[in-house]
Amino acid sequence: VERVFSGVQPTGNLHLGNYLGAIVNFVKMQETHNCIYCVVDMHAITMPIDVWGGPAELARNTREVTAAFIAAGIDPKKHIVFNQSQVSGHAELAWIFNCVARIGWLNRMTQFKEKAGKDRENASVGLYDYPVLMAADILLYRATHVPVGEDQKQHLELSRDIAQKFNNDFGDSIRAQGFGDGLFFPLPEPLITGPATRVMSLRDGTKKMSKSDASDYSRINLTDDADTIAQKVRKAKTDPEPLPTEEKGLETRPEADNLVGIYAALSNRHKADVLREFGGGQFSSFKSALVELCVTKLGPIAAEMKRLTADPGYVESVLVDGAERAQAIAAETMKTARDIVGFIRKH
Ligand code: AMP
Ligand code: TRP
Repeated sequence: VERVFSGVQPTGNLHLGNYLGAIVNFVKMQETHNCIYCVVDMHAITMPIDVWGGPAELARNTREVTAAFIAAGIDPKKHIVFNQSQVSGHAELAWIFNCVARIGWLNRMTQFKEKAGKDRENASVGLYDYPVLMAADILLYRATHVPVGEDQKQHLELSRDIAQKFNNDFGDSIRAQGFGDGLFFPLPEPLITGPATRVMSLRDGTKKMSKSDASDYSRINLTDDADTIAQKVRKAKTDPEPLPTEEKGLETRPEADNLVGIYAALSNRHKADVLREFGGGQFSSFKSALVELCVTKLGPIAAEMKRLTADPGYVESVLVDGAERAQAIAAETMKTARDIVGFIRKH
């Protein structure tokens, strides 16, 4: 059975984009793959401390993402759910990969440019190195499939480049370790699927929905109650035209496209199918249907998250149990990786 790995940062405000772009697909992959889902707390601290909120907030958000995973339907007994910092192999493999990855590759990363902003000299070294740690996350488990939202595509390409260069640089050593094909690390494939791989802000159809947007009206949080969801959807930006009857008509209308995509994803339908029902009509009636759908789908998740986070003990026990099982896999990879590189170690 092939292995799936993916991660979510514990940086607060889990939203509909995280759910539709990533978590829904995490849930689906459980049927066909061995899955490892990681709360990437080491990635969270790459931004300035006031952004991720400090130690108490980091711990709280780590429990909240874990609760969201479980509430959405991830089974932490059949699969693995844990937080990154508990398994030291992530940092160790990232160091080896730091010496494989090229500065020129990292300089092309668009997410770094966005997150660092104008004051790039003042960004953390960790933020710059973020994609290398991400490659280590995946390859520590030699995972082959990575469900993510559209925004992670470039990082996945970098992971493939790192895996390939490692395999090439150490080819002879890899073969000497018994890998006849010279392939120690697989080239991981991104899985970017569904009608909502890039959910946009409710206030601006050209900006992606994000945890860090100053306006809470830009996103639907997984913890929002029914009234809040209704208000946010009603206030969502639209244009004055009625909804188009065909998908082609969405091309120049980002806000309409986004809302139809959200409706399609939440109802497990295609956008064309949604437009057959609502096309030609006004936004007001479509928005009412969208509110109802959001509340029906997200309400039970919010309730379960609330129930789970009320007992930090249970959630933390899931992370500890998951980390032990992750560690067992990671230890195997690191043992061979150290031998491949030529690091002397005690057996
Ligand atoms: P992050 O919150 O940055 O750790 O992202 C966790 C997962 O959610 C990643 O797979 C992202 O690609 C995905 N994601 C984040 N924002 C969006 C969005 N607006 N639309 C779709 N997927 C998203
Ligand atoms: N960079 C991802 C994000 O912000 C989170 C992440 C970290 C990740 N490590 C990963 C995703 C490994 C997939 C695989 O969305």
